[in-house]
Amino acid sequence: MNDDVFVSAEELDRQKNFEEKDKKILFGRLRRAPKAYVHTFGCQGNVSDGERIKGELSLMGYEFTDKPDDADFVLYNTCAVREHAEDRVFGNVGALKPIKEKNKSMIIAVCGCMAQQKNIADVFKKSYPYVNLVFGTFASYRLPENIYKILTTGKRVFDTVEEPGRIAEGIPAVRDNGARAWLPIMYGCNNFCTYCIVPYVRGRERSRKPEDILAEAKKLISEGAKDITLLGQNVNSYGLNADYGVDFPDLLRMINDLPGDFIIRFMTSHPKDLTNKLIDTIAESEKCVHHIHLPVQSGSDRILKLMNRHYTRERYLEIVDYAREKIPDVSLTSDIIVGFPGETRKDFEDTLSLVEKVKYTSLFTFIYSPRPGTLAAKMDDPTPSAEKSKWFKELCDLQSDIASQRTAAMVGKTYRVLVEKGDEEGYLMGRTGGNVAINFKGDDSLVGEFAYVKVTKALTWIVYGEKV
Ligand code: SAH
Ligand code: SF4
Ligand code: F3S
Repeated sequence: MNDDVFVSAEELDRQKNFEEKDKKILFGRLRRAPKAYVHTFGCQGNVSDGERIKGELSLMGYEFTDKPDDADFVLYNTCAVREHAEDRVFGNVGALKPIKEKNKSMIIAVCGCMAQQKNIADVFKKSYPYVNLVFGTFASYRLPENIYKILTTGKRVFDTVEEPGRIAEGIPAVRDNGARAWLPIMYGCNNFCTYCIVPYVRGRERSRKPEDILAEAKKLISEGAKDITLLGQNVNSYGLNADYGVDFPDLLRMINDLPGDFIIRFMTSHPKDLTNKLIDTIAESEKCVHHIHLPVQSGSDRILKLMNRHYTRERYLEIVDYAREKIPDVSLTSDIIVGFPGETRKDFEDTLSLVEKVKYTSLFTFIYSPRPGTLAAKMDDPTPSAEKSKWFKELCDLQSDIASQRTAAMVGKTYRVLVEKGDEEGYLMGRTGGNVAINFKGDDSLVGEFAYVKVTKALTWIVYGEKV
């Protein structure tokens, strides 16, 4: 991998210059700090992008609000992975129309994976005239320049040019949660699973330099991060297209060796590139949680082939066996697509039997959603959607049974968790290494600290416990 994978220092300086200019214009016009509302949809990778976009905005002088009505700049950072995700964005952007009518100088922007698709950018151009700015995933680092164009010309800006994708280093992240942090180690995807839009909207795989990742990890730790998730669409191919001489297990070990009391998670691990070396490294790295998110997508070899996943059911189960041998308490989670084009009842039953065999801690299940431009969207899809919904429910029911058994087995055991504010009134929450949430009572001052919690009661997905 050569240096043109990185946005040049000159270009980043140029954007810094626009940041200064934007700040002057905005403070001059408003006579106060401008306010931004940023909402991110989609995966953790997108959440991490959103944090960096907020970083750019804060350098332009923006402060943040959680109400779009209060904002001078509203940004939706979007996801295109399923149709439902896109529908939600159109709904949210549509709801801004009356707000913009009251506040004409408000800048409305859409970015992220939807925005990167030309056909979708065109929908915003034609049908949402009050949207001022649409920029794709490749253009995030050009936000200062794009805002400058809007501030100085009043014209709408569409920056959705397709590029191989580059890495912009040095943009700070504005993070909402001090203790939990996302750390991107790579961007893009080369795998072209036939159902998936991600490679089209995120470009080719590119790995950050180990020294940049380590420097950011150190910074996060010094800021109080205690739970760091390494992010990539396929972390197992980290470094493979670069000449860093560092692969993902090496990187994991380097981060594990940094001083400090923190835990390391990572996602997502593509089974085709998962090595025994990785499993050994997890087993030997005391800060790495015993959890592997290992999306299988289907238990049928025929469907795996049509999906272009490059592994078989047998190989997948071999990985599971090796992981369970080396890390006896390993927690496995997965993503599964139900109703891929041409999937038969027999194929689906192969998925059920695989789920039964692996006994996942939890599953993310999705009904196949055709994505225009992908290969699968052109495949014959004769199975009626009512049938797919029935299968989907069957899979969810099976997983509920398995999850209940797993959570019931946690009762009486004690786990070390990082304390977070709970979703449930009156409770704090802590996630086990295996990513199961435990609700327990305790003082708010514990938030952001590690605590030992003994499980006292288990429901299907959540368990309750007491601090010990
Ligand atoms: N890079 C990750 C997944 C990213 S997308 C991996 O390879 O595992 C997250 C999940 O969304 C996928 O694992 C898949 O299960 C699901 N997904 C992606 N495209 C989809 C589609 N067109 N329809 C339904 N689910 C989809
Ligand atoms: Fe999509 Fe496959 Fe890449 Fe994951 S590995 S992002 S599912 S193309
Ligand atoms: Fe993530 Fe959705 Fe884009 S899953 S990479 S935000 S399409």
